[in-house]
Amino acid sequence: MQEFICSSIKNFPSSAKVSWTSPSNIALVKYWGKKPIQLPANPSLSFTLNNCYTKTEIEFKKSSSFSIELYVDGQKNTSFLEKIETFFSRIKEFCPYLFNYQLTIHTENTFPHSSGIASSASGMSALSLCILSIEKYANNLSESQFYKKASFISRLGSGSACRSVYGPIGIWGNHNSFSGSNNEFAISYDAVHPIFKNYQDTILLVDKGKKQVSSTVGHKLMNNHPFSSLRYNQANHNLIKLKEILSDGDLDSFIQLVESEALTLHSMMMTSEPYFILMKPNTLSIIEKTWEFRKENNVPVCITLDAGANVHLLYPDQEKDNVLSFVKDKLVVYCENQQYICDRVGNGPTLIKEHYA
Ligand code: PMV
Repeated sequence: MQEFICSSIKNFPSSAKVSWTSPSNIALVKYWGKKPIQLPANPSLSFTLNNCYTKTEIEFKKSSSFSIELYVDGQKNTSFLEKIETFFSRIKEFCPYLFNYQLTIHTENTFPHSSGIASSASGMSALSLCILSIEKYANNLSESQFYKKASFISRLGSGSACRSVYGPIGIWGNHNSFSGSNNEFAISYDAVHPIFKNYQDTILLVDKGKKQVSSTVGHKLMNNHPFSSLRYNQANHNLIKLKEILSDGDLDSFIQLVESEALTLHSMMMTSEPYFILMKPNTLSIIEKTWEFRKENNVPVCITLDAGANVHLLYPDQEKDNVLSFVKDKLVVYCENQQYICDRVGNGPTLIKEHYA
C-alpha cells in the first residue's frame, strides 16, 4: 500500500483538464463477498466491454479551498455527490494533491441510465484515470505505475471497477495461478485463444429499474452466509479451470463454467438471510429459450448475469448474425421496451484529452 501514497505535492499544475473513457465489465468468475476496505473475499475475472462506457472529464483549478461540482449528462447533479465524496475520503491518503483544487466533473454514460447496468465500474474507473493523469504528469509515473494505481484507487470506489482499467480481461484478487494477481488492484490478462479476442456480449434489458439489492448489501450478506467458504473455494477452483479454457478455446467447458458461476451468484442471494430473488420471470424465459436455441442449432452461446435481472449473452464473433436474429425473433419480447445492447470484449480505457497549465 505504501507504494500508492503520493508524498510530494510539488510539480502539480495550477490548472488542468483531463478526460477519459472507461468501459464497464462483465465477470465470468464472480466477486461476491468482501472484507474492509473493498478487499475481495475471492478472486474474480472479467471481460472488459467496449461499447458500454463512461466518459468523464475533470477540470482542476488550484485553490485554497477544496470543492467538487458535478454534472451528469450536462446537468448539475447532487445525487451522486455523496458517493464521490466517500470515494475521495478513501483516496485522500493516496492522492492528497486532489484537495488543493476546485474540481468540476462532467460525466456521461453511453448506456441508458436506468438500464439496470451498473455504472459504478465504468464511472469509478473513468474518474480514477482522470485523477491519476495529473499525478502522472507531476511525478512522471511510468505507464505501468499509472494503470496500477488507477486500478488501486478505482477499487476503493467500487470493487469491480478496478478490473475495468485493463482490457481485454481483468483479474482481481490473489490467486496462485495468475502471477502478479493480488487483492489490492487488478491485473491485465490476454493469454487467450483467438476465439475470445472479439467475443460478443448482447445485454438483454429485462428490468431497467434500480436494483432491489445494492451490491454493498449483497456483499455483506456473504459474511454470515452458510455456504460462503464453499463458494470462495469454488471461485478459486473455477479460476484454475477458466485459465485452461481461455487458453484452449474449449467453448463447451466455457459455457458450463460461466453459466454455473452466474447461477451460483444468484443462488447465494437466494440462500442468504434475508433472501432475495433478483431474476424476473423474463430472465428465466430468456435462459430457457437460449438453452433450447443452443441445443437445436449447436450454437455456442451462453448466458451470464450480474446482480440483477438482465441477461448477458456471450458468444463468438462468427455467430453474431445467427444469435442476433435469434434475439430479434425470440428474445426481445422479454426485454423492457424491447431494448438490448450489443457489446463485445474491448481493450480498456482511452485517454480523450489532457491539458496542463
Ligand atoms: O463492484 P461491485 O461492488 O458493484 O460488485 C460487483 C459484483 C458482481 O457484478 C455481481 C460480480 C462481479 O465480479 O462483477
